[in-house]
Formats: sequence, C-alpha cells, structure tokens
Amino acid sequence: MSTDKLIPSSPSDETYAVDEDQGEVFTVDEPVALFAEWLTLAKKSETNDANAMALATADANGLPDVRMVLLKDIDARGLTFYTNTMSAKGRQLTENPQAAICFHWKSIRRQVRFRGAIAPVSAAEADAYFKTRARGARIGAWASDQSRPLESRFALEKKVAAKAAQFGVKEVPRPDHWSGYRLIPSEIEFWVNRPFRLHDRLKFTRENEKTAWTTEKLYP
Ligand SMILES: Cc1cc2nc3c(=O)[nH]c(=O)nc-3n(C[C@H](O)[C@H](O)[C@H](O)COP(=O)(O)O)c2cc1C
Repeated sequence: MSTDKLIPSSPSDETYAVDEDQGEVFTVDEPVALFAEWLTLAKKSETNDANAMALATADANGLPDVRMVLLKDIDARGLTFYTNTMSAKGRQLTENPQAAICFHWKSIRRQVRFRGAIAPVSAAEADAYFKTRARGARIGAWASDQSRPLESRFALEKKVAAKAAQFGVKEVPRPDHWSGYRLIPSEIEFWVNRPFRLHDRLKFTRENEKTAWTTEKLYP
C-alpha cells in the first residue's frame, strides 16, 4: 500500500495550514490553573478522553518508551495517573523515576507538555481512587499481568472469572501491584496553534517544588 497521500508532502496538500487565530489563550500566570482552564475547554469539544495523555518514560539504558494513560488528578503537587506497578512503565519508573507527559487536543489545536520527577502516591490515596472504579475494573486489576505475555484471550477471561469467584459479593481490595504515580513538574509548556505555523509557546520552569515558576516565550 502506498502511503504517499497519508502524509502530506507539500504545503499545497495540507488542509489546515491557515486556521483561525484563537486570540489570547495564556489567560492565567499560574500553570496548573492555566492547564485546568485548557482541560475544561478541551472536555467540551473532544469526542472522548480529553484527560488522555502520552506518558514517556525511559528504561535503565535510557531507551525511551511512550503510551497513553488517563490523568486522574492534578493539583499543586502534580499530575496523577494509575497503573499496574509491575507493567513495563512501572519497571521503567522504578529504574528511572522521571517522566514526561504530553496532551494534544486536536479539537482546540493546543498542546501541553510536562517534565519532572515521579513519586508514588500514598497507599491511602490509591485506595481511595481504587474504590471509585467499577467493580469489573477492580477485578480486572487483579486479573491482568499488565505488559506480560498472554497466551490467549481465553486465559485472561479464565483469570477474570476466577478472581470474580474468589471475591464473590465481597469488597474487591486494591492489589499491591496496582497504584498511582505523581509527576512533579519542573517544566510545563503551553502551545497553541497560530496561522502560518507561527505558533505561540509559553514555558514555565522552576528549580524545585518550593521555588517560584519563571516564564519565557519560545520561538515556534
Ligand atoms: C486513551 C487511553 C488511556 C489509557 N489509560 C491508561 C491508564 O490510565 N492506565 C494504564 O495502566 N493504562 C492505560 N492505557 C493503556 C496503556 O496505553 C498501555 O497499553 C498499558 O498501560 C501498558 O503499558 P506499558 O506496557 O508501557 O506499561 C490507556 C490507553 C489509552 C489508548
């Protein structure tokens, strides 16, 4: 199959080169509040999962990896997501507790990037979030050896059935291998599409959690 037409090869092939200017979008000078404002806007126009974000990690050899996860909380401390701690990402975060996160909302043509250290959330915080998950998802967290080889779909279904039988009508507790991580940002960059690729970029940087953010604009 030819991929010629899938990726535009010249500007004349592009359908979106000139778009409307969105006006002033850097409306708040505190990055978490600004992110919250953009996410609220994105939720109104994204078809689903406006809180989906690409999470980049690197293993002990420095080889990068990336996958989507869902943002479950954001506050002054950072961005929280939940996963299987024995998964590939979990192993990588143990070897190298630093990560980057990228949101791209196509419907509003905006991007936000975060870089920083990773810290596990407390057991109490993970328990509280786990309780809010659907029972099926809680059972799934027990049944899935995330990122490890699966011999067949049937093997997974058998494990789900066995776990469902084991818990019966009892409460499904959080497995030890399922928890959350928080990215504590040291850099946050906001990007908005502008006509003719003259995009606007605003970057917030800080030394550590106790120091103030400094800002700078970047060339597109
Ligand atoms: C939109 C979207 C949201 C996802 N959210 C999560 C999530 O919150 N947690 C998670 O463990 N996996 C999530 N996944 C699955 C991951 O992308 C990935 O397949 C899985 O976590 C295994 O990744 P790993 O092998 O790199 O550890 C999501 C996938 C998509 C496409």
